[in-house]
Amino acid sequence: MFTTTPLDGSKPEQYAALAAQVRALLDGEADRIANAANLSALVYHALPDLNWVGFYLFDGTELVVGPFQGLPACVRIPLDKGVCGAAARTRQTQRVDDVHAFPGHIACDSASRSELVVPLFAGEQLVGVFDLDSPLPARFDADDQAGLEAIAALYVESLR
Ligand code: SME
Repeated sequence: MFTTTPLDGSKPEQYAALAAQVRALLDGEADRIANAANLSALVYHALPDLNWVGFYLFDGTELVVGPFQGLPACVRIPLDKGVCGAAARTRQTQRVDDVHAFPGHIACDSASRSELVVPLFAGEQLVGVFDLDSPLPARFDADDQAGLEAIAALYVESLR
């Protein structure tokens, strides 16, 4: 059984502890669905004020919803649509303090107010995106972005 340890200390310390849990969770497994499922569950339960955590996986044409925690979400996102498409297209993490102010934001859960989307690339190859939504405006700061980018990198590494 996998047990989680409560996070404490500064935010970077909390993310370092969470990254250690992610390493343990993904250790020895390379299946992209299994690892995305467990990672979504771990992060959703470890961090406060989130209403959706999950993966959109690239099928060669567009992003297709993968494992997640939260309410049912839109299934397919073209690369020219939404915050997820922007992350995949620009290869840059999208940190959106107010989703209502983001042109083209796709509202899957009307409770979402802020969003962080980390693009997942294995070298030049787009794997998908790691998407987190919060019901609070400006839920994600630079520490969250750095911590979640490090966790996303562990996911990509696990696929090898
Ligand atoms: N808001 C995202 C769509 C996915 S949901 O948040 C789960 C977007 O604009 O790409």
